[in-house]
Amino acid sequence: MHEESIQTAESAGTRMDGDGFMALLGRRRSTRMFKEQPVPQALLETLIRAACLMPTSCNRQLWHFVIITDPALKVKVSALSDAQQSYLYDAPALIAVFYDTSLETRNPCNTAEVTAGITIGTLLLAAEAHALGAIYLGGIRRPSGIGKAVGAPPYMRCFGLVCVGWRDDDPPSPNRREVADVLNMNRFALSQERYRADIRPHLWTLRQIADFRDKLLWYKGVHIDACTLHVDPDRRLSPLFQFMTGRLAMMLSRYQAPEMLDILSFNGDVVYQVLNACPGAFKRLYAYDLTPGIQRYMEERFARLSPTGPLAYLVNAEPDRLAIPLAAGQVQVISCYERLEHFEDPLPLLREMRRVLAPDGCALVLVSNRFYPHLYRYKRMRQGNYALGRNWNRGPERKFEPRQIERLFAEAGFQIRSVTGLQPVSIKIASVLASFCRRLGLYPLADRLADWAGQQGCTSSWLRNFSSVIAYELNRQR
Ligand SMILES: Cc1cc2nc3c(=O)[nH]c(=O)nc-3n(C[C@H](O)[C@H](O)[C@H](O)COP(=O)(O)O)c2cc1C
Repeated sequence: MHEESIQTAESAGTRMDGDGFMALLGRRRSTRMFKEQPVPQALLETLIRAACLMPTSCNRQLWHFVIITDPALKVKVSALSDAQQSYLYDAPALIAVFYDTSLETRNPCNTAEVTAGITIGTLLLAAEAHALGAIYLGGIRRPSGIGKAVGAPPYMRCFGLVCVGWRDDDPPSPNRREVADVLNMNRFALSQERYRADIRPHLWTLRQIADFRDKLLWYKGVHIDACTLHVDPDRRLSPLFQFMTGRLAMMLSRYQAPEMLDILSFNGDVVYQVLNACPGAFKRLYAYDLTPGIQRYMEERFARLSPTGPLAYLVNAEPDRLAIPLAAGQVQVISCYERLEHFEDPLPLLREMRRVLAPDGCALVLVSNRFYPHLYRYKRMRQGNYALGRNWNRGPERKFEPRQIERLFAEAGFQIRSVTGLQPVSIKIASVLASFCRRLGLYPLADRLADWAGQQGCTSSWLRNFSSVIAYELNRQR
């Protein structure tokens, strides 16, 4: 029966269409960088026509679309919907998808929501079929604001935006789960391990973490100007970065033509700093991360930047295990800027760092401190403003207690040479007091407090246990 139906399909000439359709599905990628060139109105209407061919409950077709091309309106849409996604401005056209949920009787299968989903999926595929790039933005905190911005009636519920334009990026393919992993015949196989994609990425498997780092870089990386790609341009000016670069320069100066390794270089910010600040101080600088996609991002970025030097890219050698492709004892200096936080169990990474470090080598490891009141985190949680990616952009969610991380260092075979607290809590307290004094009109006291806070960038005293980040300089245990 099954063979018969395949034969019928083949003879009807639909088999090729099936292959073509699968190829289209496989080719589609979410596009996050667009060319400025506008999309012709007729082509946009074709996308809407494709969406209108989709099924609806009782064929009621309660959808409506608004295409936004006016730059001023985009700003309004972004502000009213609290979208915070840069490609919303870059895409030449945004399609706001509405559905009249008031007329779609409440039904246990949520037919209105299902229909909106089908519609959005179709818009994305139709865009791909017409050589356009597109992305659906569901990470919009107030979709009703889009309706307000375009003057939609209140009974029309907005289901987000599809950004459309000519593609100007080539993001790596994200991983997809295998059919065997997601399909059972007739009965749900409960013996299968539950698939987890937790909101906290450090709980993921190495493969998932690698894929996420890849995506995050290509998602959040934005064109700041014609020649530079940055994830977070402000970072390089931060006191943490300045401390780190200074300390690394000092460490490098202890060796003759040392080799240096940067752990999980990501967008290459640390590597960029070192190339800039310590030219000629090392024989080779290795930028190591998990995927070829991240390597490509860094290569493209560095090809356009001025500092050059003996830089080599390293990609993790195994998909399920952290494996730095370097010989044992090969490097003299290692930098690791808040990277242990990306793993539930950072020991495998620490052990790899210990393996590749030369017997007389040293590592600078910056760790985010659990005992510091990272207020932005609580504020975001209170606002429900908690999204994947946003956390990693603004600093990792995972924090370590000093004693916990120090135990892990010892377990991995490191001994601590020095400990420095960066941005101690006293700075924060002094700044809060200073602004309080200013409000009371006590300006001289406010100035003195602010002045004092400015001098407290780092500390080796007990206050280091209450600083935002703790910098450890490590040696191999003898
Ligand atoms: C419901 C939904 C909401 C999404 N929201 C966003 C978003 O707000 N921002 C974003 O950059 N991507 C968003 N995406 C795109 C996904 O991140 C993307 O589809 C996924 O990572 C797979 O990548 P691919 O589309 O290139 O295959 C969303 C996708 C879906 C289905």
